[in-house]
Amino acid sequence: MALKINPFAPQSPKFPSFHFPQMASLRSPKFFMASTLRSGSQEVENLKKPSMPPREVHVQVTHSMPPQKIEIFKSLEDWAERNILVHLKPVEKCWQPQDFLPDPASDGFDEQLKELRERAKEIPDDYFVVLVGDMITEEALPTYQTMLNTLDGVRDETGASLTSWAIWTRAWTAEENRHGDLLNKYLYLSGRVDMRQIEKSIQYLIGSGMDPRTENNPYLGFIYTSFQERATFISHGNTARHAKEHGDMKLAQICGMIASDEKRHETAYTKIVEKLFEIDPDGTVVAFADMMRKKISMPAHLMFDGHDDNLFEHYSSIAQRIGVYTAKDYADILEFLVGRWKVEKLTGLSGEGRKAQDYVCGLPPRIRKLEERAQGRAKEAETLPFSWIFDRKVVL
Ligand SMILES: [Fe+2]
Ligand SMILES: [Fe+2]
Repeated sequence: MALKINPFAPQSPKFPSFHFPQMASLRSPKFFMASTLRSGSQEVENLKKPSMPPREVHVQVTHSMPPQKIEIFKSLEDWAERNILVHLKPVEKCWQPQDFLPDPASDGFDEQLKELRERAKEIPDDYFVVLVGDMITEEALPTYQTMLNTLDGVRDETGASLTSWAIWTRAWTAEENRHGDLLNKYLYLSGRVDMRQIEKSIQYLIGSGMDPRTENNPYLGFIYTSFQERATFISHGNTARHAKEHGDMKLAQICGMIASDEKRHETAYTKIVEKLFEIDPDGTVVAFADMMRKKISMPAHLMFDGHDDNLFEHYSSIAQRIGVYTAKDYADILEFLVGRWKVEKLTGLSGEGRKAQDYVCGLPPRIRKLEERAQGRAKEAETLPFSWIFDRKVVL
């Protein structure tokens, strides 16, 4: 799992901002206190409190799936073993971060490190900000495993449960764990980034957690993960493409390998939802519309580095500008999922189901229109320092 953003959101009352304005008001007493005081005085500086890490501000709903539907997931145990677990790769066949990094036990380590750092010199700061944000997102993996284990009927009840769902979640986590590891080690070796600030950001983010509004409901949970795996497939694919354009084929390979894992995970999660559409088309289309109405909140939207109260917004804005993950991607993913699950072709739905069907099928063009309008209102480019790159300034 990983990114991302919904950059079109803040401009429209119909698609309100994810959390930014509310978040600022809760997370940062300094943000408002300082603005009411006379600037420039020493007293003001002394009164400034450190910023607070963000937290979720929406009403948190739990256990929205009717308990009898838990049986659906129990009855799918064997199906999941045959159809979902096959998308995991045996550990012995998996790539490991070390396959793409200088080998510290080899005589060639110094030379390989020098080459890595030479290549990294050619890559611009804005790319590094986005790669750091992607890495931090991957590093908050404990949050995502927690989220999967909130889901009724599929959670790992013991920590080593032998149900197909639990086996999947643990192995998925183990595969994902290599993503953060690899990017973290690469960025450390590159010498281009402030590792301490990055490490702080990871600690803050895991501490903040996340409520993607999946309500312990596996319908919502697997729709969310389907969306997210595709989003990360797209964004890592784009960082691979950019690395290639900057002449760093090794970094392109790193991002490309991660992207291919995300694709495999997307295949598994979309297959689960496809099965739910087959068993319970009405319930699944209603869940899909519900998730999209609430918007897919991005896994790292509570990102914080101890300084920037709008860090996620700033990181997202660069990802959007350089084309790693954009509002268009959000609409494309939705359109892809509508097609993948053949939502337009669903028949025999209830009134509520038909309403949900109309809503999700009509949403991609509406998002695109809003995005075009937002583009038209594009503000003048602003530059901002990022602690992750030693406070060097980057155009948002
Ligand atoms: Fe993923
Ligand atoms: Fe990942």
